[in-house]
Amino acid sequence: MTISYETQLLAVDPLGPAPERVALAADVLRRGELVAFPTETVYGLGANAFDPEAVARIFAAKRRPTSDPLIVHIHALDQLEAIVRAVPQGALALVRRYWPGPLTLVMPRGQRIPPNVSAGMDSVAVRMPDHPVALALLRAAGLPVAAPSANLFTRPSPTTAAHVMHDLAGRIPMVLDGGPTRIGLESTVVSLLGPRPELLRPGGIPIEDLRAALPDLLYQPRYVAEDHAAAAPGQMLKHYAPDAPVLLYRGPRAAALASMLAEVRARLAQGQRVGALVGDEDAALFREAGALVASLGSCANLAEVGARLFAGLRALESTVDVMVVRSFEQGGLGLAIWDRLLRATEGHVIEVG
Ligand code: TXA
Ligand code: MG
Repeated sequence: MTISYETQLLAVDPLGPAPERVALAADVLRRGELVAFPTETVYGLGANAFDPEAVARIFAAKRRPTSDPLIVHIHALDQLEAIVRAVPQGALALVRRYWPGPLTLVMPRGQRIPPNVSAGMDSVAVRMPDHPVALALLRAAGLPVAAPSANLFTRPSPTTAAHVMHDLAGRIPMVLDGGPTRIGLESTVVSLLGPRPELLRPGGIPIEDLRAALPDLLYQPRYVAEDHAAAAPGQMLKHYAPDAPVLLYRGPRAAALASMLAEVRARLAQGQRVGALVGDEDAALFREAGALVASLGSCANLAEVGARLFAGLRALESTVDVMVVRSFEQGGLGLAIWDRLLRATEGHVIEVG
């Protein structure tokens, strides 16, 4: 059974949220209900991480399978003790370097964290978000907060409160609106369970940066089909799919643009509405061809591309029948951007040139 809510949308100053408003949201969390809130990466859908019934509400509201584990958010290091059974070697150095920030660490799960936070596994993912609203909420609630991205399952992650409302209005009691999120890509997830640290999800911290701190970091991209998702949490291929199909091109710029423009013209000639999710450098070409353009900023500025990616997918999905996009540079945030594009296309890449 799903309860229906009149979702309260509370605007807060992203740099200095009013304490009365934060207190209202903290009360909702302490009552065992859900609050969506901004982080530096994407909006999260939070619940008291110590309360299995509150946590169960997250899965229901998102329609997320209970086999997909959640990240626990904290505002202070001393909270870690109650969340993990042991702090693996090397964890503290990472924490000092990257927290608060977009690094999630998977560690042995402590007794107070109910199994449904971690999909029954013996581990738990933890991070300290770098956002004044998230930190103020966590502090006011006085609780660790389990929070996945605040979208419906398989939808692009939300980078604005409007995205959250689009997916979850009526399904949760409250959204804190702190404006658009800065990074726009989810956190980098690193497991510290094995003999070597392992990158499970590329994200807001580039892998090159992490490798400087963790020279033996493992990364073996594994993408699994929907029906095998339980075996490899978070690695399900169809994860960020917008409502309209995405055609993803990879290859040298000129060749990719030529193929994309040919596809755009052919589809327009058939009477389809076509979108282009492209950098400013390419935008004019697609506008002139008659496509609806969502700009990702300069192709050379991957931070900007990352920040606009999910919003671009969401902006186009309701107005076009299909959208085209091409690969960006792979270095730095490019790895996370490529991962999200692959997931938006269920791994289907059109190779050109
Ligand atoms: O930036 C973020 O990480 C955002 C904000 C809200 O903090 N949260 C987020 O949560 O992206 P979610 O649920 O959409 O993604 C959580 C990722 C998934 O890939 C999940 O499989 C992985 O973390 N994860 C969580 N707990 C895990 C565990 N115990 N072992 C392995 N992976 C885990
Ligand atoms: Mg998510």
